[in-house]
Amino acid sequence: MTRVAPPCVFVLFGANGDLTQRLVFPALYNLATQGLLPEAFGVLAVTRSPYALETMRAHLREGLEKFVAAPLDESIAAHMLARVRIAVADAVHPDSFAELRERLADLDKSVGAGGNRIFYLAIPPSGFAPTVRALGAAGLTQERDGAFARVIVEKPFGADLASAMKLNANLREVLEEDQIFRIDHYLGKETVQNILMLRFANGLFEPIWKREHIDHVQITVSETVTIGRRGAFYDATGALRDMVPNHLFQLLSLVAMEPPARLDARSVRSEKARALDAIRIMTPQEALANSVRGQYVAGSIDGQKTAGYSDEADVAATSTTETFVALRLSIDNWRWAGVPFYLRTGKALARRYTEVAIKFREAPISMFRGMDLDGMHSNYLVLQIAPEEGVTLQFNAKTPGPSLSIQPVAMRFRYADFFDAKPATGYETLLYDCMIGDGMLYQRADGVEAGWRAVEPFLDAWRAAGDQKLALYRAGSTGPTEADALLARDGRRWRQAS
Ligand code: BG6
Repeated sequence: MTRVAPPCVFVLFGANGDLTQRLVFPALYNLATQGLLPEAFGVLAVTRSPYALETMRAHLREGLEKFVAAPLDESIAAHMLARVRIAVADAVHPDSFAELRERLADLDKSVGAGGNRIFYLAIPPSGFAPTVRALGAAGLTQERDGAFARVIVEKPFGADLASAMKLNANLREVLEEDQIFRIDHYLGKETVQNILMLRFANGLFEPIWKREHIDHVQITVSETVTIGRRGAFYDATGALRDMVPNHLFQLLSLVAMEPPARLDARSVRSEKARALDAIRIMTPQEALANSVRGQYVAGSIDGQKTAGYSDEADVAATSTTETFVALRLSIDNWRWAGVPFYLRTGKALARRYTEVAIKFREAPISMFRGMDLDGMHSNYLVLQIAPEEGVTLQFNAKTPGPSLSIQPVAMRFRYADFFDAKPATGYETLLYDCMIGDGMLYQRADGVEAGWRAVEPFLDAWRAAGDQKLALYRAGSTGPTEADALLARDGRRWRQAS
């Protein structure tokens, strides 16, 4: 990130909401502190019912105080807040977009944005299509005289393949694909972006990045958080929809993709979509055999008593929604044939960590027959995404001393040791990229649809099996034992987090 973004007005739908306060506005502020926001910049805070300008500014300021991970630079904060204006618009009343158009024109003129605008939809998904339609009808999405009009769409993008396709079609009635920026905050994480650098900026890894050398891949997103106040949303969604076609598949596709011809939005997103497209579409029997869905029961996390999922607020006592999912996927292409990708994610687990562990094949013959090899472990390359950010290579070394024995050791690279990370919400790069028109870290329609296509067989098979395939696990555990059995069946096991 080096150049200042071009002038624009940032139109923030759902400005009174949590996402705006927690992530979006603090990210804009952080961009300003890094000198990346243009002087000609304004924020139009849009709500469905009227807000006083001062109330809105106070709401946004509170967000800066709470969610900017560094002492506030008062002059930048004041300058950012001074650039905020308000407007009321509700897609249920498309007429209200005429007022929005006027407010936008006023703000554009006063800051000198030259007609450039970004619409950020921090609103519930049911509002995505109607809002874009109303923007289109008000003439606000047309790109005239070289000015851009872009729309950032939050997740969840659809609830299954059909609804994602419908949403894509609805958006495309009004917008060109390159005007649509579908956000997945995993792509804002430095360590996720680093997978591309690790693979393609080094000559070391790519030659062994294939079935001949890799035994299998494990992707784990383990969370300690419970459902808390998100019961209504979560109970209708479940762990698979909430995490897999989006976040886990971002990780999977970056690990599995072929080298792109160029490091640009088109090439990278094409290769990612192709990798997802190669995931084997399972029959209902295969889907049941290659998945585990779990739900937490009461337990304790970090010494704190934790209620079971079915006792959470806004969750039916008889709910069969999964809070944990483990999948065994096959990628049917020449690079990955025969290399399983094991994915797991869940809430209320013992530890919070996110990692991709690539397990390499054993040495083809052992020279160490008859020696003390109890300590011998497999080689793992582990990409650590959270909470530790880094890369670890695990291999075997000789234990010092006259007797020949072996012990696993690790070479660790930690981001924090090398780089001075700026305080960030994880949204900065994404917002900045939208401002400069770079969609590489956003999801393209084909990628989203390929993701849903790959998980759909699981959703269908679970539904057809009456959702009874639910494995219970204790809050604070590592998940249901059935998830261990999924790997044990193949003679493998989950890597223990280090
Ligand atoms: C969100 C999900 O998209 O991602 C949450 O809706 C989940 O359920 C969160 O907790 C995880 O994000 P992160 O960045 O904490 O791994």
